[in-house]
Amino acid sequence: MLTGKKILIGITGSIAAYKIPLLVRLLKKAGAEVKIIATSAAKDFVTPLTLSVLSGFPVLSEAFDKETGAWNSHVELGIWADLIIFAPVTANSLAKMATGVADNFLLTVYLSAKCPIMLAPAMDLDMYKHESTQENIRVLMQRGHHFIAPQSGELASGLCGEGRMEEPEKILERIRDFFVKKNRFLGKNILITAGPTYEAIDPVRFVGNHSSGLMGVEIANAFAEQGAKVSLVLGPTALKVVHQAIDVIPVISAKEMFDATTALFSQADIAVLSAAVADFRPKEAANTKIKKQTDSDSMMLELVKNEDILKTLGERKQANQFLVGFSLETDHAIENAKKKLRSKNLDLIILNTLEDQGAGFKHNTNKISIIDRSENVCSYDLKSKKEVAADILDFIFQALRK
Ligand code: CTP
Repeated sequence: MLTGKKILIGITGSIAAYKIPLLVRLLKKAGAEVKIIATSAAKDFVTPLTLSVLSGFPVLSEAFDKETGAWNSHVELGIWADLIIFAPVTANSLAKMATGVADNFLLTVYLSAKCPIMLAPAMDLDMYKHESTQENIRVLMQRGHHFIAPQSGELASGLCGEGRMEEPEKILERIRDFFVKKNRFLGKNILITAGPTYEAIDPVRFVGNHSSGLMGVEIANAFAEQGAKVSLVLGPTALKVVHQAIDVIPVISAKEMFDATTALFSQADIAVLSAAVADFRPKEAANTKIKKQTDSDSMMLELVKNEDILKTLGERKQANQFLVGFSLETDHAIENAKKKLRSKNLDLIILNTLEDQGAGFKHNTNKISIIDRSENVCSYDLKSKKEVAADILDFIFQALRK
């Protein structure tokens, strides 16, 4: 499965480094070429001799090797690798990666690398839970790095909790999975809508909703990571989108989202409309701030219907296009979602209901069911939105193969 794949392992100073020889062995058995960079702290936990015998290459630590006089180019190593995996990666190294500090050879390779990056952290539970570590992980994940969450269990400190590096066998599975999926959507044009829309009342106020846009952004990231070219029509959100294969088209109102999305649809092979589009907008948006009227305790705001973007795409859809919608429900969820699937002429509908704890707006997690045209319902557990996005892509991939 990994024949010919070039994998660079970056080992930092954690006791979990003792598990890396097994990872090297597993990768080699799977056919990969493996090179290793170990920080000087890492070499206190695992011997370079073991690693170099198993990998077949000398373990690198410095740009300049004083013993041999060799110069190890950080740029070349970054270009050589198809994937760099930092395992174990400490809280300290995560912080440096998040902020661009390059005070050792491994970090200079990180800064010059163009290939995908995987992170398998290991640390004590309180270091892992610390807000600064969590913030650094968020930054690195937003950068599109793949995160292999540490497991819960007994830690080297004797404490019990989250922080154990994932087992080498599981890391191997994630690496295999990454290469299997890497080019699944190569050459495909994907159109995604995400986020809320703001419907102006006057220059300072709007009618909006609580959507963060995270679900749609994760779907965009997942498609980009699997080889596709993505156009992301994105309502107002604080989220950063950084993947080079994603073209972000920022919009504010439902009208702007409609115009941008319909203009791009004819080029799209697959469209996934996850935006929480306002169904109504104020009939007139005032040009100046509406003043509070002292003689009245109430105010009428007349709303008119916005166009349904998804329905419009369903009407225009060609036989070679695949259209996916979302359905946010609070009651009679499956029944309502099936109705939307039919009335909007969709290939799939993804249902999330606010009845499920941890699902929908304001959460980093979601719980979905996917309904296809034959009205089969496939329900998933509560997962992070990144994992949910991966499930959605798996489903779309399988549906397109049928
Ligand atoms: N949608 C859209 N344009 C709209 C309204 C909704 O493209 N003006 C899309 C959403 O992006 C989503 C799907 O339609 O993919 C369903 O949205 P949802 O809010 O669940 O349902 P509505 O169709 O708006 O119906 P209702 O509000 O009555 O549930």
